Amino acid sequence: MAERRLLNQDCLTTLFLICFTLIVSSPATQAYDRPPPRSDVFTPHYGSRSDPQQVHISLAGKDHVRVSWVTKSTDVPSEVEYGTSPGAYNTSATGRVTSYRYMLVYKSGQIHHVKIGPLNPKTTYYYRCGGQGPEFSFVTPPSTYPIEFAVADLGQTEWTRSTLAHIGKQDYDVLLLPGDLSYADMFQPRWDSFGRLVEPYASKRPWMVTEGNHEVESVVPLLHVDTFKAYNARWPMPFEESGSTSNLYYSFDVVGAHIIMLGSYTKFDAGSEQYTWLKADLAKVDRSATPWLIVLIHAPWYNTNQAHRGEGEKMRIAMEKLLYEARVDIVFAGHVHAYERFTRVHDNKADPCGPIHITIGDGGNREGLAKRYLETGERSISAFREASFGHGRLRLTNETHAQWSWHRNDDAFSNIADEVSIENLGVSQTCTSEV
Ligand SMILES: *[C@@H]1O[C@H](CO)[C@@H](O)[C@H](O)[C@H]1NC(C)=O
Ligand SMILES: *[C@@H]1O[C@H](CO)[C@@H](O)[C@H](O)[C@H]1NC(C)=O
Ligand SMILES: [Fe+2]
Repeated sequence: MAERRLLNQDCLTTLFLICFTLIVSSPATQAYDRPPPRSDVFTPHYGSRSDPQQVHISLAGKDHVRVSWVTKSTDVPSEVEYGTSPGAYNTSATGRVTSYRYMLVYKSGQIHHVKIGPLNPKTTYYYRCGGQGPEFSFVTPPSTYPIEFAVADLGQTEWTRSTLAHIGKQDYDVLLLPGDLSYADMFQPRWDSFGRLVEPYASKRPWMVTEGNHEVESVVPLLHVDTFKAYNARWPMPFEESGSTSNLYYSFDVVGAHIIMLGSYTKFDAGSEQYTWLKADLAKVDRSATPWLIVLIHAPWYNTNQAHRGEGEKMRIAMEKLLYEARVDIVFAGHVHAYERFTRVHDNKADPCGPIHITIGDGGNREGLAKRYLETGERSISAFREASFGHGRLRLTNETHAQWSWHRNDDAFSNIADEVSIENLGVSQTCTSEV
């Protein structure tokens, strides 16, 4: 009996000591234990062959939205019926259907794309795809400030699920994705699974994406033949609407923001089509109509992580001057599986007129987090860095002020790991006078 009591006491003492040591020795931020990667999830389709699956929407030119979905059945019309009350679809539109084959073994379902509109701002629309199946709804972006963007790259692991749940915890207007969607890596059924995983979110708010290395999927590996086949078929973005000739780079406007999506894995040198298009697109920007100028790329131009060092360097050398002279406010990148925010930079030096570079590549890839960092060189221009899964929020408050925050998946939504307020460069006296 006495022995037993002693044992219990020992246990309690030991526990107390462990807790005490933990509390005393680690400040809150260091006590955070970086989680290991989690495995891929497969998301099945429960409906019939003609029921819509993988429904997602994207902005498609002024006051228009593109609805995309997949059916197994080939006799479903590419038609979207919609209206502003549930079950009452008094408007409809017809679009196109496409499909693709991949290396003889895979044939995609019917991929439907239908552009609908004109739509009113900040309005809920109820819609149905192909004349059957469940009703979906989405909200159009507002026409005035504030507007909130969720920013994340994804993948489709248990961590992606956690990121999506986190994103769903607070409303947003548009999601921006800086490349690396499904991590299908040529195994095409993963594209279908990804479409189903994100549908509950991507069918409700416009998702605007650009491509990463995991979207290249060259049919003849290493030779770069027939690249981006699945990405282009499944995720068409409004490139024609912005005068681009390729789905791999485009731009769009939404409430005071001109957003440019660039392609890190297509030619970007001076004289390339992308470069020429970017130059023309920047020249058309009217900062009084769209004071905010935001760019998304995949491989970061600034990065103090040991992972993917230098991979964005050629593109930075080719295009950084264009962005700097245009006074781009923010450059978002993905690729590196961690979060990092830089001070305003240009040409590897802190510069009050350069963009803020933010790497947000921590949505939930299956490769795990990139935890090793550089302690010298660019370290001095890196303002915050951490290898944890999470997503970001950019809220444009008005034409001069914005708020950026980064949210770890492991924290309550209201618990913000990094936050900074951003002043617009287009209206800044010191920076505009030099242009
Ligand atoms: C559809 O219904 C809405 C709301 O009842 C109305 O504002 C709109 O004009 C109608 N559209 C058509 C094409 O009838
Ligand atoms: C814009 O928002 C900021 C931050 O909330 C505020 O300080 C500023 O006065 C606002 N400017 C205008 C023109 O409303
Ligand atoms: Fe990547």
